[in-house]
Amino acid sequence: MRWCCAAAWRKRYQTTPIAIIVTERIDILYELGLTPVWRLRARYRSEVPSIASHAANEPPFLAQQAEIEPKRTVSTEPQADTGNRVSRIATLDWAHFAADVSACTACGLSRTRNLAVPGVGDVRADWLFIGEAPGADEDARGEPFVGQAGRLLDNMLNALGMTRTKAVYIANVLKCRPPGNRAPTPLEVDACMPYLDRQIALIQPKLIVALGKSAATSLMRAEASIASLRGRVHRYKGIPMIVTYHPAYLLRTLPDKAKAWEDLCLARSTLRGILDASTLQTAGRDPT
Ligand code: URA
Repeated sequence: MRWCCAAAWRKRYQTTPIAIIVTERIDILYELGLTPVWRLRARYRSEVPSIASHAANEPPFLAQQAEIEPKRTVSTEPQADTGNRVSRIATLDWAHFAADVSACTACGLSRTRNLAVPGVGDVRADWLFIGEAPGADEDARGEPFVGQAGRLLDNMLNALGMTRTKAVYIANVLKCRPPGNRAPTPLEVDACMPYLDRQIALIQPKLIVALGKSAATSLMRAEASIASLRGRVHRYKGIPMIVTYHPAYLLRTLPDKAKAWEDLCLARSTLRGILDASTLQTAGRDPT
């Protein structure tokens, strides 16, 4: 833990703006396990039914989390302007999006990142690939999936006849690198999700591919194994979503590449079904 002695806290906080102090405290409380892990906010509660059926079948988890109301000794809001922040992000256009992400200080990652990593690709893509968070290479370049895992992702896209700049958009749940590539904390996910939601609203992809358990469970807001999530069509914000292995995992576990290919084939056939149905609808015929 970074701040373990009271003197260090005082020294830091004498010169630090209030918003940062609050974020630091939250980070520390989180590290100590003293804050609730998932506190469903009103805006997410209403979305629970639209999550894939398996997630809706997990009331114990959701109910449990919904019941945990923290003693509000500290604000769990990540940034001073949180009142406006979410609604401001929800109205960003592409011209302002990347700059807004780069200026974000909503969580502690803003102090350790080199470059924020908003996303890359075709802003009118049918396909949206979502990873967990930038790594070291991405943090240095400001672009998602540019390291070894990114090269594998590019190969996967090529196998589907696509490239990262055409018909595809690539983003992460987190826009900034967690130090040492540690897993994102729920608070970081919570703080960053408005950006991903805005990207989804702007792109309006027809299909989402969640890369790895972390991305998938962050989107679903439910704990589940990747094995239990694969092979089915889930939904995020009403958009069909396929879950597959993270390319970094595939680099370490070559035999599972075949399963990832199955997932991509499911994704491709799902998208074809959607496109065929909308073509029939446009032509005035019932897709059924
Ligand atoms: N892993 C991710 O999840 N995202 C990246 O951008 C790179 C590696």
